[in-house]
Amino acid sequence: MASVGSVTRVLLGKNVLNGGRFVAASNTGLVKFYSAAPAYENIKTEVVGAKKNVGVIQLHRPKALNALCKPLFQELGQAVRAFDADDSIAAIVLTGNEKAFAAGADIKEMQNNTFSDNTKGGFLREWEDVSNCGKPIIAAVNGFALGGGCELAMLCDIIYAGEKAKFGQPEINIGTIPGAGGTQRLPRYVGKSKAMEIVLTGNFIDAHEAEKMGLVSRVFPVEKLLEETIKLAERIGAHSPLVVKMAKKAVNQAYETTLRSGLEFEKQVFYGTFATEDRKEGMTAFVEKRPPNFKNN
Ligand code: CAA
Repeated sequence: MASVGSVTRVLLGKNVLNGGRFVAASNTGLVKFYSAAPAYENIKTEVVGAKKNVGVIQLHRPKALNALCKPLFQELGQAVRAFDADDSIAAIVLTGNEKAFAAGADIKEMQNNTFSDNTKGGFLREWEDVSNCGKPIIAAVNGFALGGGCELAMLCDIIYAGEKAKFGQPEINIGTIPGAGGTQRLPRYVGKSKAMEIVLTGNFIDAHEAEKMGLVSRVFPVEKLLEETIKLAERIGAHSPLVVKMAKKAVNQAYETTLRSGLEFEKQVFYGTFATEDRKEGMTAFVEKRPPNFKNN
């Protein structure tokens, strides 16, 4: 897969998507390096896109196939929180490299853990930072997304995959079970029988199977994946950030509750959009046949 840097160069040199239209990218100012970000060791961050409103986080432990050690997750949490708090960022893209999105939690790090260590230290607690993010996070998965890597992709809101991606929950091979949502989120995405097969065998599934099962929403050629994912983030970024957050919250509620209370939650959020300036602007712009000018209010 193209690195964040090379896609950035592609976007610098070519046209980029702006509000659903392709426009010529100027050669200046397209990419803002995330100046507020500290020097990370296990991830890289960049801000990309015509409007500089897409935060890209690249997992970067290539020698360990991006195994998700604690320091990596602490940095990931920090980067997600920083992008979430930055009003100029509309959506976040989370990616790895061509060989691995992430090959799971770091087996070497947890090899000697005890039950008591895990319980006292709240093992994997850092992972909640990703699911607590209010802004949309899109996973761009090339290569292996295994164990915690598959679970991390499922913590995201949308999964796009490169055609050589491989998903799986192989924890059973090493005498344990998924511990970051694999037994809970996977059945919700793909149904019980398929989830059970994946968790109990440890077998990998390829990108097209994952798409057929509903785990992945679209599959692209490896070298196109990051570019297409950034375009998706830009497309989302054309809408009111406030209403996007409300929509994300409402969809996520479907995984937390019964249909009746989910529908009630949705109705309240829908009514709530009528308390926003952006809802008024959106409908007024439609009636006046002009593009909306959302203010995140
Ligand atoms: N943790 C730690 N290190 C890992 C790792 C992991 N999950 N996955 C790969 N690595 C390391 C390897 O140890 C190896 O390091 P060395 O060069 O120092 O030996 C390096 O990454 C390259 O890996 P391989 O040589 O194994 O590469 P490969 O191409 O032959 O195989 C693979 C790739 C099939 C993904 C294989 O590495 C593999 O099976 N990895 C483990 C997958 C796994 O079991 N994941 C689940 C982890 S448990 C978990 O995630 C719990 C949870 O739910 C939170």
